[in-house]
Formats: sequence, C-alpha cells, structure tokens
Amino acid sequence: MKKIQFGNNDQMPALGLGTWKSKAGEVYQAVKTAIKTGYRHIDCAPIYGNEKEVGKAISESIKEGIVTREELWITSKLWNNAHAKADVVPACKQTLSDLQLSYVDLYLIHWPVAFKSGISMPKNNEDMISLDDLPITTTWTGMEETVSLGLTKHIGVSNFGIIALEGLIANSKIKPSMNQVESHPYLQQDALLGFCQKNDIHLTAYSPLGSFDRSDAMKANNEPKLLADPIIAEIAKEKSVSPAQILISWALQRGISVIPKSVNPERIAQNIASEKIILNSTEIEKITALERGYRYVKGNVWVFENGPYTTESLWA
Ligand code: A2P
Repeated sequence: MKKIQFGNNDQMPALGLGTWKSKAGEVYQAVKTAIKTGYRHIDCAPIYGNEKEVGKAISESIKEGIVTREELWITSKLWNNAHAKADVVPACKQTLSDLQLSYVDLYLIHWPVAFKSGISMPKNNEDMISLDDLPITTTWTGMEETVSLGLTKHIGVSNFGIIALEGLIANSKIKPSMNQVESHPYLQQDALLGFCQKNDIHLTAYSPLGSFDRSDAMKANNEPKLLADPIIAEIAKEKSVSPAQILISWALQRGISVIPKSVNPERIAQNIASEKIILNSTEIEKITALERGYRYVKGNVWVFENGPYTTESLWA
C-alpha cells in the first residue's frame, strides 16, 4: 500500500475512500466493505451528512477485530460556519462524537470561505462573512488548539490556492501539512502541487473520477466526461483495466493522495486494485496532455452579487 510520509513519520495510506455524496443509508456498508477490502484511509466531513454512519462502520470494524484504530487514517474537516476561533474545537468534538473516535488523524479547514454561525448552506450575501472580518489565520489558531488538545494528529486545509497558503504559512505556528483539492487529468494542479511540495504540504486529489454523481445544480451544461475520455479509455483497454483504475493509478504515480468515492462493492475493490497498475512514460505523457484547466467543483455557490467572495479570489 502506497504511503504519504508526514514530518513526524506518521504515514497516511495514499489511497482513501471518499465519502462525499455517499448517502447515509449506503455509506455504512461502503465503509465496512472498504475496510474489509483493505482500505485504511477514510475521508470524511460533517457537511457530507453521513459521519454518524461512517463512525458506526468504523467502530464495528474495530470491534469485530478487522482493523485497529491505529491502522486507520481518518480525515475530517471544519465546516465553513465554524471558522470563529471559539467554534473550531466544539466543531471538531462534534465530528469526533459522530465518528465515535477520540482523535482524527487529519483535520482540514474545508474551504477558505466563512459563513455566519448556524448557516449550513448560504442563500445570499447576508449569510457570508468576509475573510477580512474573520481571517483564516484566526480560524487556524483554533485548528492549532485541536492539535494541542489531542483531538487531531495533523492539520491542513482544502480548496486553498497558492496565495491563501502563503498567507497561512507566514502566520502560523503549526504549518499546514495537507491541501485537499480537486485534481485529475483535466485539472492537474501542477503549479499548486509544485508550491505544496516546496513547502512540505502534501496534496490530496478529490473528485479524481470527475464526480459525476454531483447534483444537477452543481453540473455545468455539456461538461466533459472524464470517465469517458477516449485517451483514458484507450490506455485502460490496452492494460485490460477500467478507466477509473487508470485515473487512480495516475494520481498515485504522481506521489499524491487520492480519494475516489464509491458505495459499490465491486468498484470499491476495483479502485484499491489500481495500486498495482504501473503506467509507462508514454501513457503518462498522453494523460498529461489532457490538461484543460477544467474544474468540476467551481465553488460558485459561495459567490453572491456584492458578496465577499469572487470566483477569482476563491482559487487564488
Ligand atoms: P459509485 O459510488 O456508484 O461506485 P469521484 O470520486 O470523482 O467523486 O467520483 C465518484 C463517482 O464515480 C460516483 O458516481 C461513483 O459511483 C463512481 N465510481 C467510483 N468508482 C468507479 C469505478 N471504478 N468505475 C466507474 N465509476 C466509479
């Protein structure tokens, strides 16, 4: 199993199970199956609305002796409505209670975007707080507190661009050790990956398969279908594997972490088997040439007229 090495020698399994979009009724079985199949890394977040079911599956797997807590790597995230310093530790504790854990291995600021307290999904400008009024560095002091309280082993961020990371690195005691962002052949994130590597920040790729199970409201008209890409299909056919397996093995070969979501037992098994696939340099060149700067998760739900966030500022 490929591992990502952290500064203190902790090792995160590079391949994890994504749980975004996994329905509460399905995710319990998916996590149990994944752990039985050999997954040791589960990616979670309270906004996915399923942490209790994930927690039940983890707890049962431990009780059944299939895995120990120490063998698992559990990541969760701070939602955008808990960025005030005093709200971070309680939010982390709520996640731990839902996941039935005493600590998570990695806790991330989900977005560089703040909502007013109690707002789960913003409807308008009034629900938002600007980062001038509630800076990420303030939220980060709460994140650092989760480490000193032993609630998490590592802290990091998600959906951060280079400028946002620079600001955080310059103003933090504990440096972020992870940035979880969308990444796949259509959005390879080379500049961001290079910046992260220079600053000892690991990168996790979300939506590695293009997340076609997003709600229609989140989908653009005529968006490109990554899993149906003819080059990916051609390489998959040559190697007698599936297109999803090519996408996962490509991410792993870049030395990054990747968290494909599945609630289907065959696909859960298929995805972890991607670790065995080795792409040659010609295949990698063909995949690299697919870059088109295409973002499936645009973050435009946080952008309102006269609001504090713009699409440009979000990804800067
Ligand atoms: P399912 O959960 O029914 O397996 P992403 O990880 O980019 O968010 O993509 C998740 C989507 O990809 C889900 O619709 C998931 O469906 C599907 N998926 C996961 N694994 C595979 C696979 N091996 N082959 C095809 N589709 C897959």
